[in-house]
Amino acid sequence: MYYGEKAKLRALEMSDLDSIMKGWNNYEMRRFLSSAIPMSQNAEREWLERATKAKPWQDGVIILAIEDKKTADFLGTVSLFDISKQMQRAEFGIAIHNPDNWGKGYGTDAAKVMLWIGFQVLGLNSIYLYTASYNERGQKAYEKAGFKTIGTFRQAAFMEGQFHDFIAMDILKDDFLKMYPPGKVVGEV
Ligand SMILES: CC(C)(COP(=O)(O)OP(=O)(O)OC[C@H]1O[C@@H](n2cnc3c(N)ncnc32)[C@H](O)[C@@H]1OP(=O)(O)O)[C@@H](O)C(=O)NCCC(=O)NCCS
Repeated sequence: MYYGEKAKLRALEMSDLDSIMKGWNNYEMRRFLSSAIPMSQNAEREWLERATKAKPWQDGVIILAIEDKKTADFLGTVSLFDISKQMQRAEFGIAIHNPDNWGKGYGTDAAKVMLWIGFQVLGLNSIYLYTASYNERGQKAYEKAGFKTIGTFRQAAFMEGQFHDFIAMDILKDDFLKMYPPGKVVGEV
């Protein structure tokens, strides 16, 4: 269990399936992700079975549930994937499912906690992400968490009938440790 200011990150459980099914097939949210094809409960259950068993070094992925720290409501998931032991780097992913919960600081907070896990628990050196150019809210949240924009993949995303650029962002361990040196946590219990 890891705590931010507003969010708590915990292990995903099979009992999260209903919450995920409530929020995942929401076009308003999925248009910001790489795929907006509806997912069946069956496919989601299979994904969740894999996600609940995944081990960072063995499977190269860690996916945690984001909860509201006060109410324990399920908000979404945050992940590190393509974790490379050799390169000590990983890709970052996040989704707060219900648009009513956007813009309230949960994404920035959950990102900081996942960066803390990546750098302070897993010992990674670099964490990177790609986000669609039209995801301005995401870019703002990632900047607030400490990511820096490093470049652009031109026309790398296809959504709503047109190509869009992908913005690449990353953060190095040294940058993160300036904000959160060893011993400093993002939030308390
Ligand atoms: C991206 C996401 C994780 C960000 O989390 P969040 O909780 O909404 O973000 P935060 O509230 O922490 O920060 C968002 C910031 O962007 C600002 N913002 C909101 N809408 C904006 C817009 N259209 N343009 C620019 N900035 C915007 C907010 O005001 C806030 O900044 P502030 O705190 O300085 O006011 C969340 O919105 C989400 O899951 N979206 C849908 C799925 C998604 O995009 N996943 C990531 C794919 S790469």
